[in-house]
Amino acid sequence: MIGILDSGVGGLSVLREVRALIPTAEISYVGDSAFCPYGTKSTAELRNRIGTVVESLLAQGARVIVLACNSATIQAVHWCREQWPQVPFVGMEPGVKPAVAATRTKVIGVLATEASLTGDMFQDLVSKHSQDCQILTRACPKFVELVEEGLLEGESVEVAVREYGQPLVDAGADVLVLGCTHYPFLKNAIAQILPNTVLIDTGPAVARRVHDVLAHIENEQRETAQLTIFTSGPPETMTKLLKKLLPEIEGTVQHLPLSS
Ligand code: DGL
Repeated sequence: MIGILDSGVGGLSVLREVRALIPTAEISYVGDSAFCPYGTKSTAELRNRIGTVVESLLAQGARVIVLACNSATIQAVHWCREQWPQVPFVGMEPGVKPAVAATRTKVIGVLATEASLTGDMFQDLVSKHSQDCQILTRACPKFVELVEEGLLEGESVEVAVREYGQPLVDAGADVLVLGCTHYPFLKNAIAQILPNTVLIDTGPAVARRVHDVLAHIENEQRETAQLTIFTSGPPETMTKLLKKLLPEIEGTVQHLPLSS
């Protein structure tokens, strides 16, 4: 079973890619809505909380854990690997490397959370891959709020996209990295409001990585394609959002009480 976690519904953009690539996999998804957003929390708070979610997924039988959240990865993936050395963790980082390959202006805008942009792992990523490109960053807390409310278009979305994205485009960015798993749900709106920008989403690459990791785990022939979605918040809210964000996916939503 693959365990996937995020602060809320953002990781569903990764779940969608994993389902498309590995349709037979059994998946348990935890949206930690009661603790959302992750992007404004401290490293200690995030590790403590993510540790609780990981424990819960392992107790359910997860053999691989996907941190479908850039903030969780940047602040906690190394720590998770130390705590559970026997568990394969798949994390995700803003797609700086593909952005460098795609830019013509050599100016790249990275949209992500505060927790991601201030993390050492992000700084290392930039030093390693930016080459001769200028990397501009922008924290976008309103994007997470909008997606958690199921608002993917309309005036409030346009105002937020202009506030966060326009200054980067005005500064020459022709590629924008969607460095938070909530943002791909705003991709159509961003593409419409900021045309002529290439938008980078690392969800498909994460799904390929999960596929490779699974290939190294012995096959127990338990491929049931069962999908269970847990939320630490109200299940009705998650059910409604699931219908809106992933109408093609049918899964049951259950409440998961988390103690810390
Ligand atoms: N979706 C998460 C990420 O990729 C976190 C968003 C948040 O909760 O602030 O960073």
